[in-house]
Amino acid sequence: MRGRTDVILGAQWGDEGKGRVIDVLAAKSGVVVRYQGGANAGHTVVVENEKYVFHLLPSGILYPEKTCVIGNGVVLDPETLFNELDELGKKGKKLAKLIISNGAHIVMPYHKLIDKLAEASRSEGQKIGTTGRGIGPCYSDKFERVGIRAEDLVNPDTLREKLTLNVKLKNELLTKIYNSEPLNFDEIYDKAIEWGKRIKSMLGNSFAEIDDALQSGRNILFEGAQGTLLDVDHGTYPFVTSSSPCSGGACTGSGISPNRIDRVIGVTKAYCTRVGEGPFPTEDNGPLGDMLRNKGGEFGATTGRPRRCGWNDLVAVNYAVKINGINGIALTKLDVLSCFDKIDICTAYDIDGRTEHLFPSSCADLAKARPVFETLPGWKQDISKCRNFEDLPKEAQDYVHFIEERTQTPVVLIGVGPGREDTILCGI
Ligand code: GDP
Ligand code: IMO
Ligand code: MG
Repeated sequence: MRGRTDVILGAQWGDEGKGRVIDVLAAKSGVVVRYQGGANAGHTVVVENEKYVFHLLPSGILYPEKTCVIGNGVVLDPETLFNELDELGKKGKKLAKLIISNGAHIVMPYHKLIDKLAEASRSEGQKIGTTGRGIGPCYSDKFERVGIRAEDLVNPDTLREKLTLNVKLKNELLTKIYNSEPLNFDEIYDKAIEWGKRIKSMLGNSFAEIDDALQSGRNILFEGAQGTLLDVDHGTYPFVTSSSPCSGGACTGSGISPNRIDRVIGVTKAYCTRVGEGPFPTEDNGPLGDMLRNKGGEFGATTGRPRRCGWNDLVAVNYAVKINGINGIALTKLDVLSCFDKIDICTAYDIDGRTEHLFPSSCADLAKARPVFETLPGWKQDISKCRNFEDLPKEAQDYVHFIEERTQTPVVLIGVGPGREDTILCGI
């Protein structure tokens, strides 16, 4: 019998807790595949009180008997990858088998440099607040068809030819537009050759690996990075990342066919956060935002930046449900809400005096949206030890039911703490 496939993706603006959900679900899967994004991601997994943050390694890496795949849709920074592997090696961890797609594009040193220079050159109001990990410039080269792919690192002649062109193009940009120093070809080439020596044994045909796993009955998790509202097509453009975190991205970024995806799980925080620039209707710049940030530890796992915080936004979540075909919600950080008399939840927007239930397609309209809240009773009991839905206080159960009703989607997993065991599984 063919294996089961689940896409696990962010239903908000990233950092929803995708890593911890993958870590829990990986126990019943054979393969975990990252399909887009790069080291802009920071996926936190907590096992036996030890915290791991994965930027490139799929969040199933801590299971030695599993396989992890970095798909063709990922942009791979070898330095970050090797650092992650070395850190885990120092801790003596036995890891999953790792396969890197031949077609994954490589984040080169000049991509990171250009990312930072481009961001610095943008005026206030135009800044995106990128992570500086070279993501946009690397994907630009991919679509310009000049990018360097993982397979090129082990082919010195092709690498030399491609890098010669790239260094020429980038030096024009660096010296003429950014008034910066030109690149040194030899330095970059030598570094890339060294990367190739280490990466060689991990390279492979990721599509064949995934297909083979499916045919042999192993379950597969596709791990999204970022979130629906940061998707380059469906997010709050231009305040987005440069890839496709949505479920469609799982197909292009790994080779899995749409009719082979069995389930899409949207990971949603019990409230909402965003890091970087761009509109965020339920953002609270007052004491509520500070409280959620402090209690929820809302500081970026990649950049350490404080995350913007506010109440949950069901207009946005409903949009994510439709765009991705989400048929199960993983609701994380419910424990963080255990302190309120009342909890607000946004169920509509007021845009220029009109009540809207649809997430606007224009970022300018979203910037004008004022949240319309409904208020539910809160609870103050510690829920971090609850392991069954029935253990939750009635108000917490009602909050979950409210989300299910308004999204027409079952909540299949609830996070009541950061650890692997701090999880309520509801029929998943
Ligand atoms: P990701 O990028 O979607 O994987 O999420 P991040 O790792 O960037 O951010 C999620 C943060 O919330 C991490 O610090 C997690 O350890 C933490 N976290 C995840 N789920 C829960 C939960 O249910 N309760 C609490 N208190 N923390 C959680
Ligand atoms: P995970 O996978 C939250 C945001 C950045 C910025 C925008 C573009 O941990 O959820 P980029 O460096 O991608 O060009 O930045 O996207 N961003 C994230 N925000 N979580 C992430 O990843 C993010 N990756 C990028 O803050 O606003
Ligand atoms: Mg994160």
